[in-house]
Amino acid sequence: MQIINTVCDLREVIKAWKAAGETVAFVPTMGNLHAGHLQLVTRAKESADRVVVSIFVNPTQFGVGEDFGAYPRTELEDQEKLLTEGADLLFLPSVADIYEPDVNTIITVADLSESYCGAFRPGHFSGVATVVCKLFNIVQPDVALFGLKDFQQLTIIKIMVRDLNIPIEIIGVDTVREPSGLAMSSRNGYLTEDEKRDASALYYILGVARDAILAGNQSLADIEKKAMLSLQQVGFQPDYFAVCRASDLKKATIEDVDLVLLVAAKLGKTRLIDNITFSK
Ligand code: PAF
Repeated sequence: MQIINTVCDLREVIKAWKAAGETVAFVPTMGNLHAGHLQLVTRAKESADRVVVSIFVNPTQFGVGEDFGAYPRTELEDQEKLLTEGADLLFLPSVADIYEPDVNTIITVADLSESYCGAFRPGHFSGVATVVCKLFNIVQPDVALFGLKDFQQLTIIKIMVRDLNIPIEIIGVDTVREPSGLAMSSRNGYLTEDEKRDASALYYILGVARDAILAGNQSLADIEKKAMLSLQQVGFQPDYFAVCRASDLKKATIEDVDLVLLVAAKLGKTRLIDNITFSK
């Protein structure tokens, strides 16, 4: 596995691969890799001849008072995992490689960036869209893979790619879960053992809400309210619990068939997100 730090060197390698007729799959990450990321790499290998993984803890997607400084950085362990998984190239840029000191251009996917997680993390999705767009321009992959766990992020990236005519296929990959149901996340490392046990209730409560919708005898608003209450009873401080249309994350109506339930809630100091998709 090649490890490359600069945009210039990366472009040389990609150019040579493309000249040889090889296709490229790209997995952008912020490191601290877990089984969910490795699943993205596995799927990437099935999707193209070459797999590029980036590790870049992107400062512009962290708000004031968020965990940018404390975000787990485990570069050596990550390199070992990617080597074992069979990635071809690890791109490890510095902040100065990615951002000009006087950067002026920011990408914002309007509306959706301000709702759900965007309402609680102002500027977060502009930071994500901007860095993903920049990484796409640097790597110029044929396909890029993202976890379905970050469902709102994935939807925003799909809209950006469509709106800006970016010629990259976006593939969403299923969430990998602990045996308890807790979705794998780099931020799970912040949880105490007790919190980790309680955190599994997030997925359970999503399942209860899904079953209530499928049973069809309660309003969607009531189901959201009950889920918020259940989260509080377990000790979460929920930010939101929303029944949405899977296609565009607009609030679902009773007529909608393909749905996603989105949730974000704090347990102690750790903010967790999860979702569940299903069809009626
Ligand atoms: O999901 C993440 O790890 C990040 O938001 C991403 C897509 C790598 C952009 O920094």
